[in-house]
Amino acid sequence: MKRLVFLASIAGAALAQSADTIFADFEGNDYGEWTTEGTAFGSEPAHGTLEKQMHVDGFLGKGLVNSFRGGDRATGTLTSPEFTIERPFIAFLIGGGGWKGETCMNLVVDGQTVRTAMGPNTKPGGSEALAPESWDVTDLRGKKARIVIVDRASGGWGHINVDHIVFTDRKPATLLTDAKREIALEHALLHFPVKTGAPKRKVRVLVDGKEERFFDIELADAEPQWWAQLDVSAWRGKKATVVVDKLPEDSRALTAIQQTDVLLESTDQLYREPLRPQFHFSPQRGWTNDPNGLAFYNGEYHLFFQHNPYGWNWGNMHWGHATSRDLVHWQEQAEALYPDALGPMFSGSAVVDWKNTSGFGQDGKPPLVMIYTAAGNPATQCLAFSNDGRTFTKFSGNPVVKNITGGNRDPKVFWHEPTQRWVMVLYVGQQKRHTVHFLTSPNLRDWTPASVIEGGEDKDHFLYECPDFFELPIEGKTKWVLTAANSEYAVGTFDGVKFTPEVTSLPGQRGRGFYAAQTYSDEPQHRRIQIGWFQAPSPGMSFNQCMTVPLELTLRPTPDGPRLAWWPVKEVKTLRRETQTFIQQPLKAGENPLANVRGELFDIDAAIEPGSAKQITLNVRGTAITFDTTTRELACSNLRATVPLLEGRLFLRVLADRTTLEIFGADGLVFMPQPVLPKAGDQSLALTATGGDAKIVSLAVHHLQSIWPAVSK
Ligand code: FRU
Repeated sequence: MKRLVFLASIAGAALAQSADTIFADFEGNDYGEWTTEGTAFGSEPAHGTLEKQMHVDGFLGKGLVNSFRGGDRATGTLTSPEFTIERPFIAFLIGGGGWKGETCMNLVVDGQTVRTAMGPNTKPGGSEALAPESWDVTDLRGKKARIVIVDRASGGWGHINVDHIVFTDRKPATLLTDAKREIALEHALLHFPVKTGAPKRKVRVLVDGKEERFFDIELADAEPQWWAQLDVSAWRGKKATVVVDKLPEDSRALTAIQQTDVLLESTDQLYREPLRPQFHFSPQRGWTNDPNGLAFYNGEYHLFFQHNPYGWNWGNMHWGHATSRDLVHWQEQAEALYPDALGPMFSGSAVVDWKNTSGFGQDGKPPLVMIYTAAGNPATQCLAFSNDGRTFTKFSGNPVVKNITGGNRDPKVFWHEPTQRWVMVLYVGQQKRHTVHFLTSPNLRDWTPASVIEGGEDKDHFLYECPDFFELPIEGKTKWVLTAANSEYAVGTFDGVKFTPEVTSLPGQRGRGFYAAQTYSDEPQHRRIQIGWFQAPSPGMSFNQCMTVPLELTLRPTPDGPRLAWWPVKEVKTLRRETQTFIQQPLKAGENPLANVRGELFDIDAAIEPGSAKQITLNVRGTAITFDTTTRELACSNLRATVPLLEGRLFLRVLADRTTLEIFGADGLVFMPQPVLPKAGDQSLALTATGGDAKIVSLAVHHLQSIWPAVSK
């Protein structure tokens, strides 16, 4: 597969130079003319990360050489066809093991290794990122050579990753190791230049010589795409040293770092980006996944969230923080929990410790206590607390639950009134088996195992990660609901020690991109309010992913037994600014009563009698939601769920934002979230019947306003 792809030459200083030659980009379905020996390289290039491998990045395109096939144990070589060295430099990307002569890439001339390069890793931990390297081969011009990629190591880091081998006239910039810049801290924020997709660098920030922060970041060497913020307000007046593990000598990243007290964008730009959800929470900058620590404390709803403040993709897990007084308008606050020596800050929960059982309270006021996973090696469960809802202190006695298995994480804690103690539900992965452990504690610090419940195995993700457990009223009694990341759930009874399911593996949400949902602790109106991670990307933006609207959960009696229902909290209605209503009118086949409606953010609420229609379709900005009146199936993209008619009517509610649809059928018994990316400019709505006529009993199209501060004129 020696592919000779010629790139346009980068002009400038090097007019006399010819275009780079890509010798191998490993994008093909096989290794072409390269030959393999042993098993470590398989028979074709890898597509990124292999099974059981840490996340591999820093390669170009989709394919790369990755000798982790068969794990570290496997060995082998991958040898290029012979070529003649004609250009002065060979540049490439390399990562993986750093074992001299054992995990390496060699340039072989006349049977002799004349150049060699290897990955950076020999210790546990480390990084699977590939980084650029090059050889100066001026003295070898005219010689016949082969490149041999070698994996002879079978212990830890016994593999090698290579991509994008290029012959070039231009001297590739040398990578500086531990490049530094000293900064006298005068302001609250340091701004780092980011370019999504650039090589990942390891940054450490030392204050007066002590390492205070560390993170991976795709630093922009030239023009930044966006700026990531680091809060340094605690060290104003001190001297910081920013150290970058590897940086091209001509990179402008370090000099570009700026400090200010406010964000660099004006508020007119922030929250007005083209793919910024307008009534769903998303972080100002960076990536978010799970909601964490949902609790009402000191008059505010707290929303902590898995946050990578420095990148568009997952990584550097912090607990970001936002607050709201009404569950609708959110104010992002400073990061609450930073990664530390025990690991990155993975998911967990928060409770108000009313009786100050933990002793973290102050001045007679209850503390907010957060219980999170420190995802180091080994992963453990830890505590942090706050007395003001703004500053957070990690418990000096961490961890409070030692490692059970490699896969233990996501503690959800609640106060169990009848037994007067705390209960933790904790995901514990046992090989490929998913289990949830119940533990109890009098004080949040000391935990005792109580019971274990089995979930699915392997691809059956029932009870896989992020468990939640709560009691809901139903028909004058209560029942307990155990749910986890994919939102499948069990319903049963709980005695304070053991959960006894009456029914398990019930399907939860019926859509896509709804994951790791959690419910609020201490909700003042005693509602069970859930927020899920909405896996709705915002490509090209400086932020990525968002949260669902807060959803009120209820348990409903149905002919099949008790079932969960999801419904937007009533506060969402306060965003309605203008409504078009249609009442008691026929929906004739081929007609569209919404033909003249235009808008972007909608809350649509419909009750429709199917009549003789075969299908009823609501099309929201290009996405069709179709109800088949015969099968009673509601379909959106390729997903389907049966929606019962209630009193002979189809009840449908749809919330539409810039990157999301939340679809509720039969008053929430069917919840079908959908990440969407409507065509820019498509503001259309259509409600149509086919195969016969239906009847609109009532249809309200509410136009919603943004939750973000008004754009100043
Ligand atoms: C679920 C999850 C959790 C973990 C967190 C890490 O999305 O994998 O199990 O705590 O994300 O970000």
